[in-house]
Amino acid sequence: MTSKPTIFDEVREGMIPAHIYNDREIFELEKKNLFSRAWLFVAHESEIPQPGDYVVRKVLNDSFIVVRDEKGEIKAHFNMCLHRGMQVCRAEMGNASHFRCPYHGWSYRNDGRIVGLPFHQEAYGGEAGFSRKGATLLPAPSLDSYNGMIFISMDPDAPPLAEYLGDFAFYLDYYTKQSTSGIELRGPQRWLVNANWKIGAENFAGDMYHTPQTHTSVVEIGLFREPKAEKRKDGNTYWAGNGGGTTYKLPEGDLDERLRYVGYPDEMIERMKQVWSQDQLDVIGKNGFMISAASAFPNMSLVHNWPKVEDGDDVLPFISIRTWQPVSENETEILSWFAVDANAPEEFKELSYKAYLMCFGSTGMFEQDDVENWVSLTNTAKGSMARRLLLNGRMGMLKDGSPVVAPLTPNEFAGPGEAHVGYGEYNQRHLLNRWADYLENEVSEGSVRPVVVGAQPAEGDAEMQAPSTEREVSA
Ligand code: FES
Ligand SMILES: [Fe+2]
Repeated sequence: MTSKPTIFDEVREGMIPAHIYNDREIFELEKKNLFSRAWLFVAHESEIPQPGDYVVRKVLNDSFIVVRDEKGEIKAHFNMCLHRGMQVCRAEMGNASHFRCPYHGWSYRNDGRIVGLPFHQEAYGGEAGFSRKGATLLPAPSLDSYNGMIFISMDPDAPPLAEYLGDFAFYLDYYTKQSTSGIELRGPQRWLVNANWKIGAENFAGDMYHTPQTHTSVVEIGLFREPKAEKRKDGNTYWAGNGGGTTYKLPEGDLDERLRYVGYPDEMIERMKQVWSQDQLDVIGKNGFMISAASAFPNMSLVHNWPKVEDGDDVLPFISIRTWQPVSENETEILSWFAVDANAPEEFKELSYKAYLMCFGSTGMFEQDDVENWVSLTNTAKGSMARRLLLNGRMGMLKDGSPVVAPLTPNEFAGPGEAHVGYGEYNQRHLLNRWADYLENEVSEGSVRPVVVGAQPAEGDAEMQAPSTEREVSA
């Protein structure tokens, strides 16, 4: 007798148990086996350009102070006081040389080191009783960055971020490295949607198929130069390393003409030529594909589009970065940033920002259209019937698993990974397969190296090591 397939077996078949979009147990498993290990985007270096600049960002329930210290180094401190656990920094962003806990007033330098304990002598017996030396706010288990994008992993043994991103970094450059100066961000806007976090991540990764239906009105009002929303089927979807995305097919032309077609001014085009590899330039100039929406597993997405921002037919591109921060199985906090090349002309920056606000963010027209679907899907996934339903996520795949459309050859598409022209759910399957791999793979018993924080040694045992602040954790 063969055993019943697990939800993970079904997901790998492209048949998705509908309840995974609203299931408390699944969410607990995601927290335990996925969000405890993956690299998660929290901030961009340009948000904290000066020493002391900080932003407070969350990784699920954990709050971190992401700060540039006096030496210019970027740190992420767990935002919990070493004394009785009060949240040390309550502002969302700012500049501070020190953080003082509101409860009893312990204070920490922006590099995390503890400096001030009120009544240190009277209450603790001074340095002999509580040595401040070496005591720091708890650092994020792992911190790494790519093109100034700061990621945290809750796994102290996480692989380097570049290894984790793999070939997806090739595509990330289009959004985050358009010149040697990199990008600058505005935002984030933050808001809560009553939808499961996976839906948005899947949508941005590869759902070109929803555009003609969900976003008809945006096209009908003439926001885009293209008169028909189904223009998207001429683009491709690609998956490379730990992420994937969508592209639009551009009209005939060379690199300059095609970049001008989406609205980039010549001076920005010149700088792109200096920072992008020949393959990166060929995807646009030779193959005629322009990147659009994308997702890096698990919960960061990007978008690049070029609506009309002013009267007339001229379009202008914008870039946006977002995270789908899970709050529960049916609530997601979205953080959405506007991104622009730091070297872009001021006028371009302003119009590009306007383009972003029209399309995405809490005022964005696409946003309103999308979220209506995602909330409804999440609600419907809650009931008992959803437990009997396998959703069909096999678009682009024949019965035997072979693709409806052959992948593009390296000559047709210079980017890494696998790319297919037309509608398909290749990327949604890639994303969910990765999700299944993480969820099925139990977190191994691990421990973290203790950090010694000054505290009173046991009486009569002056040599004894002071208790550690960082406790050993096992999954
Ligand atoms: S809890 Fe922070 S000083 Fe007491
Ligand atoms: Fe959409």
